Amino acid sequence: EAGEHESFMRKEILEQPTTAQAVLRGRLDERFGTAHLGGLDMDARELRAVRRVKILGCGSAYYVGQMGAALIEELARIPADAEAASEFRYRNPVIEPDTLYVAVSQSGETIDTLLAVQEVRRKGGRCVGLVNVVGSAIARECDGGIYLHAGPEVAVASTKALTNMFLAFALLALQLGRVRDLSIADGKRLVAGLERLPGQIEEVLAGEAELVEVAKDLAEAKSLFFIGRVRGFPVAREGAQKFKEISYRHAEAYQTSELKHGPLALIDPDVPTVALVPHDELAERNVGALHEIEARKGPLVVITHEGVDLGEVSARRIVVPRNEPELDPILLNVPLQLLAYHAAQHLGHDIDKPRNLAKSVTVE
Ligand code: BG6
Repeated sequence: EAGEHESFMRKEILEQPTTAQAVLRGRLDERFGTAHLGGLDMDARELRAVRRVKILGCGSAYYVGQMGAALIEELARIPADAEAASEFRYRNPVIEPDTLYVAVSQSGETIDTLLAVQEVRRKGGRCVGLVNVVGSAIARECDGGIYLHAGPEVAVASTKALTNMFLAFALLALQLGRVRDLSIADGKRLVAGLERLPGQIEEVLAGEAELVEVAKDLAEAKSLFFIGRVRGFPVAREGAQKFKEISYRHAEAYQTSELKHGPLALIDPDVPTVALVPHDELAERNVGALHEIEARKGPLVVITHEGVDLGEVSARRIVVPRNEPELDPILLNVPLQLLAYHAAQHLGHDIDKPRNLAKSVTVE
């Protein structure tokens, strides 16, 4: 039962400060600025031998995989990328012995992801799992892994499990980094950042009321864009996915930098844009793109940090707390969960069971 909450999705969104603590518990090492992931079943030598990371998942698990790949490249300087597990085995992929394959799945039962794991292992690759459901098919099929400890997730649209997938990637990136060239100072900086995150998620959730009106306006649009750059782009993809899954509105994610190379043609007063503008080295350029949207009278919602100067741009501004730049994506994602939720709520949709979708797709 969703209890006093009107839906499981809202209950699961609000649980995140607690569930986020659960995935970190016992895994952070403040003294050495690293993480301990016993379930990976890999010693320092094996972790050092990894030359590439390939992440496999479907839907939201694929998008968070792209966030995870960025974390691994930044912290461990190992080439990493994510691919839709549903496509992977159809292109006869090259499986390399020094690549670490990472399967990401809340349910642990998604058939496309399971078959991708089997393809990797049949060809002798090592595959670890980031899985929520203990003892699930993917968890059993993998060589080892990191359990997400998010608790049962009922709503089709993944929220708390996705947050814990991101945190598990941060732990993995930290451990891979610290057996390489990530300094102890940087390791400690990230451990402290991870420890601050659950409280900061709570701060974002405390601003829920402000987001309701914004969500209602977005719900009226037939079509909308979600834009972000570099670390922010997979967040935009995930935000658009959530929005379309439960509000049934056409929501498309784009790199802010690519706007001028195509979709700007579609911007008008009926097409709102949700833009991610974190306080980073790209903020000024991102604000430039907002001017382009405003010039075409496109309504703007900007998810940003204190200290980002939006200049003359008129936008609904949603401010989230800053963490370490590498960890900011997950805090930028929380308002997008709430926007999707309240848009769907406003439209009167069945939020926990959106039409045509299943929580886990176990047949091909
Ligand atoms: C899809 C669900 O079918 O499966 C998505 O509709 C989900 O919400 C995806 O992200 C992957 O599920 P899982 O359980 O493998 O993480």
